[in-house]
Amino acid sequence: MRRLGLTQRIVIGVSTLALAAVAAPATGVAADSAADSGADAGRPAYRNARLPVDQRVDDLLSRMTLDEKLGQMTQAERSALTPDRSDLAALGLGSVLSGGGSAPEENTPKGWADMYDGFQRTALTSRLGIPMIYGVDAVHGHGNVRGATVFPHHIGLGATRDPGLVRRIGRATAREVAGTGIDWNFAPCLCVARNDRWGRTYESYGENPALPAAMTTEISGLQHRLGRSGVLATAKHYIGDGGTTGGVDQGDTELSERELRAVHLPPFKKAVERGAGSVMVSFSSWNGKKLHGHRYLVTDVLKKELGFGGFVVSDWAGIDQIDGEEGFTGAEVRRAVNAGIDMVMVPHDYRKFLTLLRGEVDAGRIPVSRIDDANRRILAKKFELGLFERPFTDRSYTGDIGSPRHRALAREAVGASQVLLKNDGGVLPLKKDGKLFVAGKNADDIGNQSGGWTISWQGESGAITPGTTILDGIRAQTGPAGTVTYDREGDGVDGSYDAAVAVVGETPYAEGEGDRPGGMGLDEEDLATLKKLKASGVPVAVVLVSGRPLDIAGRLPGWDALLASWLPGTEGDGVSDVLFGDRRPTGKLPVTWMRDADQLPINAGDGQRPLFPYGYGLTYPRS
Ligand code: GLC
Repeated sequence: MRRLGLTQRIVIGVSTLALAAVAAPATGVAADSAADSGADAGRPAYRNARLPVDQRVDDLLSRMTLDEKLGQMTQAERSALTPDRSDLAALGLGSVLSGGGSAPEENTPKGWADMYDGFQRTALTSRLGIPMIYGVDAVHGHGNVRGATVFPHHIGLGATRDPGLVRRIGRATAREVAGTGIDWNFAPCLCVARNDRWGRTYESYGENPALPAAMTTEISGLQHRLGRSGVLATAKHYIGDGGTTGGVDQGDTELSERELRAVHLPPFKKAVERGAGSVMVSFSSWNGKKLHGHRYLVTDVLKKELGFGGFVVSDWAGIDQIDGEEGFTGAEVRRAVNAGIDMVMVPHDYRKFLTLLRGEVDAGRIPVSRIDDANRRILAKKFELGLFERPFTDRSYTGDIGSPRHRALAREAVGASQVLLKNDGGVLPLKKDGKLFVAGKNADDIGNQSGGWTISWQGESGAITPGTTILDGIRAQTGPAGTVTYDREGDGVDGSYDAAVAVVGETPYAEGEGDRPGGMGLDEEDLATLKKLKASGVPVAVVLVSGRPLDIAGRLPGWDALLASWLPGTEGDGVSDVLFGDRRPTGKLPVTWMRDADQLPINAGDGQRPLFPYGYGLTYPRS
């Protein structure tokens, strides 16, 4: 870069000052004079990438009006800014998100990257040109994007007991997210699932806090080369979301502080140590008090005691729940921001939010120091992400989305996540030259094997995105002498087959939609299918595709083999690698498996007698 002489720099400095004074709105914008120190010729210090981040933050903060600072604390859903994006600049909104399934018209990597760049181009036209940061739930790969690699959900990754594998998955996921421009991932969920009735059990790495804590390697993977192929990670949901009474989603975690700290805090402590860029607050309550208004846990414990230096984001309209009434009020905005929330996922009525927030500050009920602290935290991450220097999609990563290399990694993870729970008579591994019958609603269904947070928020059955189903994998693994007959309901099975494989379990769900306060057994369709296979007299191997343990103890005696497959994602051939012995099963249960649903919650050490204990898993005899 051409460097200017001292005289030239002084002249440009003065003219910049004059320009800024003219351009600044009459809302008492801080004079730019203090802020130009250390500026390159003609550039304000905050735009100088050679300066330390905290200096750039100081400089930018000194130039911002109060309204611009409040804007940075506001996150809007993309649909609220589509098709008219102008508020992004006019109100200086700090962030945009895609909620589950909130995709551009063209749901392709290019469509996402074009959408991101469109929002960013608008954001950069704001007075100070502060880039927005875009968040998405890439919780098992970039699941919203058709064609992305969908990895096993966390509960399956917990079964691998392999933090190194999870780090690699984090890196791959980050590259696919970065390939669509997006710079912030609302992952990993570090919830400690203590009651399998909870609809988000599959988002947990397991019931023992040491397991989610170990798997915070996902954060290191996601944030590797931050701002290039790396994206900002989010440790969520702070704190106790997996410990609510009855496993009710967004419910109440009724524990002593000692128990809360022992069971639910370790993963967040580890996440802070690993430099997680953000933390998302839980919808749930602790002993009747909503986390979204909990100053002791959010500020005193997370920020002060653990030393969390990133920023805290609310969950989706989470502040609306603080008073238990519909909608949000100035009092709730005040409670949330004073509790330590730095950015609010409004996510739609951002104008009302800004009006209420300004009112609370003007009335002195939220100190400006709190606003400045929140802005420091947010702006620091934007600088660390390089958003001021590289605000648009780096399309060199776009080709990584759904790449063979990433799919091979996902297939490896699927194989490592399979947990063999029963294998009488050595029915597994299957013979490649055998005469096989395959049945079950989850045998040939990418949507069912991927679960929630895939293409849509709740996920859905069907061929929703490219990949290999479990049946595809079985067919591909069968040798020339082998045959595979498939019938979803099991019609046509008879005693001539060497074995029958029943791929059954759950259909997709997310969050509270997946809470199961009643029975935890298989559905009628699965039971009917299994009955036909059993009646044929051939050995039956059950592959259970589910987001959690199910109540199957009563059925188990009728099955010759049982493989817990969890929610494997797009690479179903990872399951058949284990079914045919190309890979020996090594998975270990990340959660205790109930003997009866009435036992729930059931966890290691609680004195109950499970069907299969935490850590259980068989393998094949070495041939
Ligand atoms: C949801 C989830 C949270 C997610 C957020 C944005 O309600 O609780 O995990 O990151 O909204 O989609």
